[in-house]
Amino acid sequence: MRRILVTSALPNANGAIHLGHLLEHIQTDIWVRYQRLRGNECIYVCADDTHGTGTMLKADELGISPQQLIDQVRIDHRQDFKDFLVEHDNYHSTHSPENEHYSALIYERLQDAGYIFTKEVEQLYDPEKQLFLADRYVKGTCPHCGVDDQYGDNCEACGATYDATELGEPRSLLSGSPPTLESSTHHFFDLAQFKDFLNDWISTETVQSEVANKLKEWLDAGLKAWDISRDAPYFGFLIPGTDKYFYVWMDAPIGYMASFSNFCDGNDLNFEEFWAKDSVAEVHHFIGKDIVNFHALFWPAVLKASDFRLPTRIHSHGFITVEGRKMSKSRGTFINARTYLAHLEPEYLRYYYAAKLSPNNDDIDVNWDDFVQRVNSDLVGKIVNIASRCAGFINQSSESTLAPTIHDMQLFHVFVDAQETIGQLYEAGDTNRAVREVTALADRANQYIANQAPWELAKTDGQESQIQAICSLGINMYRILVIYLKPILPRLAEQSEKFLGCDELGWADIGTPLINHPISDFEPLFQRIDKNAVKGMVDASREDDIETADNPMITISDFEKIDLRVARIVAAEPVEGADKLLRLTLDVGDHQRTVFSGIKLAYAPEDLVGRLTVVVANLESREMRFGTSEGMVLAAASGDSGVFLISADTGAEPGTRIT
Ligand code: MSP
Ligand code: ZN
Repeated sequence: MRRILVTSALPNANGAIHLGHLLEHIQTDIWVRYQRLRGNECIYVCADDTHGTGTMLKADELGISPQQLIDQVRIDHRQDFKDFLVEHDNYHSTHSPENEHYSALIYERLQDAGYIFTKEVEQLYDPEKQLFLADRYVKGTCPHCGVDDQYGDNCEACGATYDATELGEPRSLLSGSPPTLESSTHHFFDLAQFKDFLNDWISTETVQSEVANKLKEWLDAGLKAWDISRDAPYFGFLIPGTDKYFYVWMDAPIGYMASFSNFCDGNDLNFEEFWAKDSVAEVHHFIGKDIVNFHALFWPAVLKASDFRLPTRIHSHGFITVEGRKMSKSRGTFINARTYLAHLEPEYLRYYYAAKLSPNNDDIDVNWDDFVQRVNSDLVGKIVNIASRCAGFINQSSESTLAPTIHDMQLFHVFVDAQETIGQLYEAGDTNRAVREVTALADRANQYIANQAPWELAKTDGQESQIQAICSLGINMYRILVIYLKPILPRLAEQSEKFLGCDELGWADIGTPLINHPISDFEPLFQRIDKNAVKGMVDASREDDIETADNPMITISDFEKIDLRVARIVAAEPVEGADKLLRLTLDVGDHQRTVFSGIKLAYAPEDLVGRLTVVVANLESREMRFGTSEGMVLAAASGDSGVFLISADTGAEPGTRIT
């Protein structure tokens, strides 16, 4: 039996769980459940990442304390994961006594071993907000390629990493003002001393090859000392013996240890057995490719320097795109866990992600048509269908009892023998191929049933035992597929176990079919996805957005991208089946266009005709149930107080650009 500790990256405590986090936790959970199914000891811990400027600013914005914020967010995060059937053994917080303990311990060990030094640094400071600016809160031009609008840590255009002070024309994203340079003493971890160690470490099987290549590039470019301290005010832990705080990325990975330590208490587990230098247990970190440097450079170096064990493997995945593009609030493709759950079942997404995940870290595109198609045709139409096709016959003609023999032993063994391949695919994180193996088996089962055609046999008397034999094999094949899919679809597995009248199925049960065995009456195990539910979710996500835009400042060039024009309303009519919408025909100078607007409760259509208003003329047109909306008219809308259309002063010519 292997002893394995598994983690997912700790979600930031300043926002909701979304499709991206879910990819990671579902991927991890599938791997964990597979290990448990194989009888390994597998402990899965996570926590909220609570420290840093992000938490302070979010709490500020909401008018609550950081503590109140992280307490509430942790409740929400835990519930979200639970509802997606993600089974963490412990979901802790980095703002915990255990984390404070291990952070201090590790720091002291680093210091004793001579890896910490101090240096004066100049940093960008926002004089208006009275805060040192974390890299994420400054933007300017990239010092390497000159592209504008880049954050203070790295460039999205050319991939370069640099210090925020190197940015050209920096501006604070908090106040919009240009930051000043202030000097203070910082504490550094001397990462450069670990170059040879890291070179060796990443050449073993600890990271995927494409990740190793990226890391090699960084190593070859040279490692700088890592600034692990931050000035007050900062939400975090004080560095022992100083008035500085640990940088959030210093104590965040230590949060893995802290969460595990918290789990050890009361669970008869020994921390040292997993984390001591000579531990024979395994430690696996699942992360996104954006945080590979923290996990495969800083973290192993810190562990090595403080005399702890090293990770066994870092599993890095790609990013979620939706409909081919980065998740976007305005397109309704930035979807929160809660919004998804209000419209769809968690296992649809688990299955879909599993069908797309591979051991490399390519980005993964969510395409909603494909999502519906795969769940409805493959999962429901092929796999679950095997049970529904066969169960009725067993329930009716064999008193719900499976046959005493296996009708086609050769076929049965094809199913049993697939365990080797499928097991290896799960172990390697190649779940898309595992799912393909399973659907290929399902095809064979369906083919067999179609060839045997029990419904034809049922037309003549005396064929009961033949029908029973065929359908029993069908059900036994389904049972094996359920075991193969159990890491992905734990709820379907549980319901199937009930239907099959058997105990919790494990990998070891694959080869032993149910013989002479009573089953329950069949009830539908899985519903098809209703396309309208997907549409409802996307629409709801678009609305969510308006309140939660997370980037407070835009540049003048951002603003200039919006083509605002004067428009005259030439016609306005109610839309059948929509309580709030009016269909407006607008004169925008050289042409007319149709725009749907949610202002019906505030305006009678006839009062609008002839009025001048403002239209966003270059907004992508949007397909709605009632037709296409070609732009948007502007209105002030706030909760209860009503909706107020924005007008242009009399005399303005339709089509005039508003600047
Ligand atoms: N708090 C840090 C992790 C600390 S681990 C010691 C962090 N938090 S995060 O909330 O921004 O992201 C958590 C995880 O979710 C990361 O592994 C990140 O890669 C992943 N994802 C966030 N958005 C994502 C997508 N759009 N797609 C896939 N995963 C992404 O980073
Ligand atoms: Zn650049």
